Amino acid sequence: MRTSRSRRSCLAVPGSSLKMLEKARGLPADQVFLDLEDAVAPLAKPEARKNIVAALNEGDWGGKTRVVRVNDLTTEWTLRDVLEVVEGAGANLDCVMLPKVQSAEHITWLDHTLTQLERTLGLEPGRIGIEAQIENARGLVNVDTIAAASPRLETVIFGPADFMASINMPSLAVGALHPDYPGDPYHYILMRILMAARTYDLQAIDGPFLQVRDVDAFRAVARRSAALGFDGKWVLHPGQIDAANEIYSPSQVDYDHAELILDAYGHSTSDAGGRVGAVMLGDEMIDEASRKMALVVAARGRAAGLVRTTTFTPPG
Ligand code: GLV
Ligand code: MG
Repeated sequence: MRTSRSRRSCLAVPGSSLKMLEKARGLPADQVFLDLEDAVAPLAKPEARKNIVAALNEGDWGGKTRVVRVNDLTTEWTLRDVLEVVEGAGANLDCVMLPKVQSAEHITWLDHTLTQLERTLGLEPGRIGIEAQIENARGLVNVDTIAAASPRLETVIFGPADFMASINMPSLAVGALHPDYPGDPYHYILMRILMAARTYDLQAIDGPFLQVRDVDAFRAVARRSAALGFDGKWVLHPGQIDAANEIYSPSQVDYDHAELILDAYGHSTSDAGGRVGAVMLGDEMIDEASRKMALVVAARGRAAGLVRTTTFTPPG
């Protein structure tokens, strides 16, 4: 994996709002993405580019991952967005997010453009990463080649609102289950994105939930993608941040259990433990596959700053 950045909560901040740019700085989101795309009206985009450059250069973002979402390649804005943001604040930018990616060529274009800029500006080559939003059928059909298109890629992101519109899904409740469909209408899309992301060691990120005052409904949607293995979700409102940080981290109980499995299996396979490859931990049979599962949960718990509350005692 290119980086091990935490992205449990990815906060959308319209680049046209000075107030929100200022407020975002102090919020406990793992990532902020300063938006030049759909949250910014066409006439406000030139001003938003300037606001974003200033916001990136001005302040302490408290270790958050700093991302700018540019406009997609079917618009006339993408090149200017990338030029102005990287020229103005390239050293203070972690990733560029490209929306509505439809093919690997879109990513290749951004990769080359970033390389040109880094060379011209004397920035570290290849440092600025790319985040790819999958928001239509063509993007999903091509997601494997998109995910493989550049070593700069860090995430593949589901964009449910644009996606629903693009496939003519007859609903306006983004991310919510549909009363007429006896399953999760997003399951296939989420899994497709997750498989592509994992194949190329990228993070898989779930998109926005628009009913920002209904945190319980946000939790329900977030839990579904977290259960599949997604790394985080967009948040549109400060009230969604704590919920995302909690849901995309393991619970204390699961974290403790994962660390216990690692210790117990490490012991049982050692000389001191008798070099045993399948062993009982309480009522549970653990083996090498259990170790791999436990590693995933333990790594996420450690990244989230959880501290163990139990210790392993080797059997007497
Ligand atoms: C996000 O960009 C979405 O379209 O859901
Ligand atoms: Mg979108």
